[in-house]
Amino acid sequence: MDKYLADLHIGSRSEVKEKIRQGLVKVNGQVVKDPGFAVSSADTVECGGAELSYREHFYYMLNKPAGLLSATEDARQQTVLDLFPKELRKGLSPVGRLDKDTVGLLLITDDGKLAHRLLSPAHHVDKTYLVRTDAAIVPEDAECFAAGMSLSDGTRLQPAVLEIDAEDPRQARITIREGKYHQIKRMFAARGKEVVGLKRLSMGGLKLDPALPEGAWRELTEDELELLLRS
Ligand code: URA
Repeated sequence: MDKYLADLHIGSRSEVKEKIRQGLVKVNGQVVKDPGFAVSSADTVECGGAELSYREHFYYMLNKPAGLLSATEDARQQTVLDLFPKELRKGLSPVGRLDKDTVGLLLITDDGKLAHRLLSPAHHVDKTYLVRTDAAIVPEDAECFAAGMSLSDGTRLQPAVLEIDAEDPRQARITIREGKYHQIKRMFAARGKEVVGLKRLSMGGLKLDPALPEGAWRELTEDELELLLRS
């Protein structure tokens, strides 16, 4: 039972053992105080009055704030996982990396298979960003990105779509398929422009919830997970 509850991110093994001993856990309506009790996914389990449904994996949408690393841990700097309470962190990792100063959509999950598929270069998941630059973006930039450009170190890139904001030419939406190191910053640098703001808006079919403030996270809805699995 204690492993079952810990796997559902109710708390650490010792925390859930304590809850069980306190009589907070019921199986099929009966209080069970033995942490070693054998429970299966067919049982109805309640903890503190709330019914728990068994699931294999956890999927969270984070609106990444600036200043945090897209990593699980770091000796000196804060990571995106520091935004999650300890009892939820088990097995979680960000899917891909956003730069420390980039904000916006970051998927956090313990589903390694899905993460691998979404990041696989062969899979080509579109990622759309809102970008702000220090100088006006011009149609020639869009043409260059659409043709598939080379970075200063010779890296060839796949075509990318750039839509310049009609009201503010220093702002655009850019959609890329790869996720090379500092890719968008290097693309604009190759055009003589500096990126001064970058926010990821979507990844495959998954869109950043506009109601989610920077630094906040929530579980994906079933529909969102479905969209992502189909991406
Ligand atoms: N491209 C960048 O340059 N930085 C990011 O964080 C994501 C894409």
